[in-house]
Amino acid sequence: MTKTTADLRSRRWFNASGMRAFAHRQRIQQMGLRREDVMDRPIIGLINTWSDLSPCHAHLRERAEAVKRGILLAGGMPFELPAMSLGEVLVKPTTMLYRNFLAMEVEELIRSLPLDGVVLLAGCDKTVPGTIMGATSAGLPFIFCPAGPMLNDRYVRAGQPERRIGAGTHTRMFWDEYQAGAVSDAEWVQLEGRMTRSPGTCNTMGTASTMAGIAEALGLTLPGASSIPAMDAAHPRMATDCGERIVAMVFEDLTPAKLLTPAAFHNAAAVTMAMAGSTNASIHLLAMARRAGVSYGLQDLDAMARQVPVLANLFPSGEGLMEDFHYAGGLPALMNRIRAHLKTDCLTVNGRTLGENLAGRTAQNDDVIRPLDRPVSTAPALAVLRGNLAPHGAVIKPSAASEKFFKHRGRVLVFDSPAALNAACADPALDCDENTILVLRNAGPIGAPGMPEWGNLPIPKKLLDQGVRDMVRISDARMSGTHYGTCVLHVSPESAAGGVLALVQNGDMLRMDIAARELELEVDEAELARRRAAWQPPAKPYTRGFVRLYQEHVTQAHEGCDFDFLQGTGDTPEPAIY
Ligand code: FES
Repeated sequence: MTKTTADLRSRRWFNASGMRAFAHRQRIQQMGLRREDVMDRPIIGLINTWSDLSPCHAHLRERAEAVKRGILLAGGMPFELPAMSLGEVLVKPTTMLYRNFLAMEVEELIRSLPLDGVVLLAGCDKTVPGTIMGATSAGLPFIFCPAGPMLNDRYVRAGQPERRIGAGTHTRMFWDEYQAGAVSDAEWVQLEGRMTRSPGTCNTMGTASTMAGIAEALGLTLPGASSIPAMDAAHPRMATDCGERIVAMVFEDLTPAKLLTPAAFHNAAAVTMAMAGSTNASIHLLAMARRAGVSYGLQDLDAMARQVPVLANLFPSGEGLMEDFHYAGGLPALMNRIRAHLKTDCLTVNGRTLGENLAGRTAQNDDVIRPLDRPVSTAPALAVLRGNLAPHGAVIKPSAASEKFFKHRGRVLVFDSPAALNAACADPALDCDENTILVLRNAGPIGAPGMPEWGNLPIPKKLLDQGVRDMVRISDARMSGTHYGTCVLHVSPESAAGGVLALVQNGDMLRMDIAARELELEVDEAELARRRAAWQPPAKPYTRGFVRLYQEHVTQAHEGCDFDFLQGTGDTPEPAIY
C-alpha cells in the first residue's frame, strides 16, 4: 500500500486547524523556516549518535549534512535529532549498560515528534542495535546509515615483514607483547598515536563491523553500504542516497515490519557466521528479533554456525581489515558466496529484494572473501555450549580460539571481580599453568551491572613470560568482538542471578568439549546444593536511577539483555494532540 501527502503522519501536527496546529507551525517559523516547509511533505528525523566524545562517530555531524541534502532533493524536510552517543572505549562502566537506554530514547523520540520517516546515523558497537531496536519498536519507515570503518594502519619494524594493524585486536596483541617485553616503551607510545588513524568504527571484524553487516543483511542499509570506509568519498554519497531513499520509503510505507521478517533474521545469522562476526551478535541479534516479534534463539545461531563456513578473512579470525573487505566486494560479494543459505526474496530498504541487490556483485579478491571450498577456518564462528554450568547456554568463537583447547579439562581458578583477577595475574607466584581454567563471575547483565567486555581475561604475567598466549577462560561477561582467544562468554544464567557459576570454587575440575557443545563443572548435585544453601546474592548498591531500572528489568544473555517490558510488538498508541 502506498501513501500520499494526505496520509502523512506529520499532518496531525501541522495541517490541522485549531490552536495547537497554529502553535506547531508558529514554532517552526520561530526557527526561520517557512510554513510551507513542513506542510504536505515528509518530515524526516535524522537520529544522530555523534558527539565530541564519540571518536568513531567524529564525522557523523558532517555526514548529517549529506543526508539532509538527499532528503531535500527528494522533496522531504530534514530535522536532525541528537541521541545518546555511545563511544565504546570512553563510556564507563560499559556501553552495554546504555544500549537499552539508547533504544528507549530512539523509540520515544520517533513517537513523540512529528516525523514520517527516520534515518539512523550510528556505527560504534551498541549504537547499531540500540538505534535499530528503538526504531523497530516505533514502527515508522527507517533506513540505517552506517558510520563506516576507520582507515587501516601499517606496522613496520626493521627486519620484519610489514603488518596491517587495526583497532582492538592489535591493541590486545601488542599489550601482551609489551607485558612480555617484546615491545619497547617507545614503540608502545608510538602505537598509541597511530593505530586508530581516522574517524570511523573499528576496522577489524569486531562488533561494529559485525553489527553493520547484520544491518545490511537484514535489509536495513543500502546494498554494500556497511563496509564503505568512513573517509572514502563514497561514504557521503551513500549518506545522500539514504536521505533520498527515506522520502520514497515514506510514500511506499516501507515499515520495519515489512523488512524484519523471520527470513531476514535467518539471513543475518548466516552472514554473521560467514563474517566470523563478534560474539556480541548473539545478544544483539536476539534482542532485535524480539523487538520485531520474531522468535530466534541461541540454538538457531548454533545450527547456522554448523552450516555456514567462515569466508571473510578478517581479524580476529583471519588477516585482513575492513578496507580490504570493502575493496574485495564487501557484503554483497560475501552474500553471493553463501547464497545457497540465504532467503533471497526478502525485501530491503531500496524496495528491491536481496536477490535483486546481489545480482552481479561478485568477489574481487578470493583471499579476502574466500570461496566455499577454501574457508578461513574449519572451526565455526560460534558455538553454543551447554551443561550444568550454563543450562541456558554460553558462547565461544572457535574460529578465533586455540584448537588445542577445543576439548579440555582443567582445574579452576575463580575470581569475583576484575580487580582481584588483575592483581592475581600480576603475582609471579600465582598457582597456575597453561591448562588452568580462569573463571570470572559477577560480570553479567545484573552482576556487573551491564555485562562489560571483561571476558577476554588477562593471561597471568608468569605465563606470558613463559610464552603462553592463550588459556581457557570462562565468564558471564562479554568480550570485545575485536579480541581473540579461547574465551567462553555469556554464561547463562549469570552468577548474580544464582547461576551455577556462583557456586564454582578454586580447585574444581571443569570440562569443555566444543564439538559436543558441552560445558560441565565436575561437581555433583549434592555438593552444588550444599554450596547453594550457603550462597548469598551479591548486594545491589544502586538504589536509584537508570541502573536500578536496568538491574530490575534486564533479561539474561540468551534472551538478548533487553528490558522485559520492551520486548515484543505490543501496540503503543500514537500521542494525543490536544
Ligand atoms: Fe567504536 Fe570500536 S570503539 S567501533
